[in-house]
Amino acid sequence: MGIIGLLTLLAACSAVLAGPAPPEGFDDNTLAKVKANLETIATHSWEIGTELETLTELEWPKLSVFYGAVPPPAQLPTPNTAADVIGKATANISNFSGPSPLIDGDGAVGDPASLGVAVLLANWTRTDLSDNRLELAAKNQLDYLLNVAPQTPDGAISHRASEVQLWADFVYMAPPFIAYYGAIAGGDYGASLLAEAYKQCKLYRQYLSDGSGLWRHIVLGSDWQDHNHWGTGNGWAAAGMLRVLETIARSGHAWKFSDELADLTTWIDEILTHSWAFQHENGTLYNWIDQEDTTFTDSSSTALLGAVSFRLATITRNSLHIPSAHRALKVIKQSVNEDGWLLNTVDPFTFNTTSLPGQYSPEGQAFVLLLHSAWRDFEASRGH
Ligand SMILES: *[C@@H]1O[C@H](CO)[C@@H](O)[C@H](O)[C@H]1NC(C)=O
Ligand SMILES: *[C@@H]1O[C@H](CO)[C@@H](O)[C@H](O)[C@H]1NC(C)=O
Ligand SMILES: *[C@@H]1O[C@H](CO)[C@@H](O)[C@H](O)[C@H]1NC(C)=O
Ligand SMILES: *[C@@H]1O[C@H](CO)[C@@H](O)[C@H](O)[C@H]1NC(C)=O
Ligand SMILES: *[C@@H]1O[C@H](CO)[C@@H](O)[C@H](O)[C@H]1NC(C)=O
Repeated sequence: MGIIGLLTLLAACSAVLAGPAPPEGFDDNTLAKVKANLETIATHSWEIGTELETLTELEWPKLSVFYGAVPPPAQLPTPNTAADVIGKATANISNFSGPSPLIDGDGAVGDPASLGVAVLLANWTRTDLSDNRLELAAKNQLDYLLNVAPQTPDGAISHRASEVQLWADFVYMAPPFIAYYGAIAGGDYGASLLAEAYKQCKLYRQYLSDGSGLWRHIVLGSDWQDHNHWGTGNGWAAAGMLRVLETIARSGHAWKFSDELADLTTWIDEILTHSWAFQHENGTLYNWIDQEDTTFTDSSSTALLGAVSFRLATITRNSLHIPSAHRALKVIKQSVNEDGWLLNTVDPFTFNTTSLPGQYSPEGQAFVLLLHSAWRDFEASRGH
């Protein structure tokens, strides 16, 4: 074979090995519809908290915990910057009475705290320095979590207010707030809060991870429990630990926490590895990740774990989970309809049935935008 023939053959081989080009994120038109729909249907505390974090990552990435130092500069570049996030955070706080949640949490301890990062950001960047309402509300929320809410004997804060019960969801709702509070506070007190956020992740993993590499959804408590490896629960846990990881890593105290940062990275990777092991060939995950036969496919968890995969690869520069994340992005693009609704979601209230026709998942809408933002930032980090 001549040199030209050899080169042609090599080119053909590498084209085959490279396979089809990976999918791109969403177009602006679709993003706008998905976002408008999210804003319409996010009404519960954890939905609003997740919405505010999602809008921050999508529209104001420099104010998220995935960019620069945490906290960001206190002076916003323009009065319009993050106006939607700050406006909603401020408007949604309804409780300033002593140690108390920021907002009604439907009996959940963790969920109202999910608004906390946006409330802290609003306080930190406010121009009227005499207005201390936001600071007071955030302080009351922290006091409630640390000193009022029920706990296990070893200090895991309950996700429920009525008795000790641990839900994987908690990890996205409360520890990122505790960590952000610490990053702003600084000093020994701030460091103690960063350590507390890490401790909650560690304890939750001890209680919920069962040796399979995946987390159970709900343990402890006298009522029902849910020991299934719920896709969204594993997503909440991985995404919450990711935000704690980045908040600590970008705080002034990062150098004190190298072991903790390594642990969090390992624990996030553990969930991703054991989730993607069950990824269907079209890219989707099952609602109960490791129960193909008894469950249905779920786009919500697929989107959230895809987002976590792009973010973790951006941080660690390890692309191990990127092929899975690309498959997830592809199936999620196929699962958003013309009106900007994510289809094939689990019903976020039953955890074990699909959303009924015509009903959509607020958190699923947010996860689509988190997936896009994480994909975008991963691409930018590679110099594209
Ligand atoms: C949250 O704030 C928005 C205004 O930005 C308002 O429309 C909505 O009713 C508020 N929701 C709650 C639960 O306070
Ligand atoms: C405010 O917090 C108190 C104490 O936790 C609680 O009893 C009350 O229901 C809360 N109110 C709202 C509107 O969330
Ligand atoms: C609120 O913002 C101010 C800066 O304006 C900061 O000094 C204070 O620590 C913040 N409060 C909280 C609870 O983060
Ligand atoms: C992916 O495959 C699963 C299992 O066959 C199926 O239930 C689901 O509808 C498929 N999703 C899409 C978007 O094709
Ligand atoms: C879903 O879970 C609830 C509460 O545990 C249970 O009563 C119901 O039978 C389950 N439904 C399905 C379809 O598994």
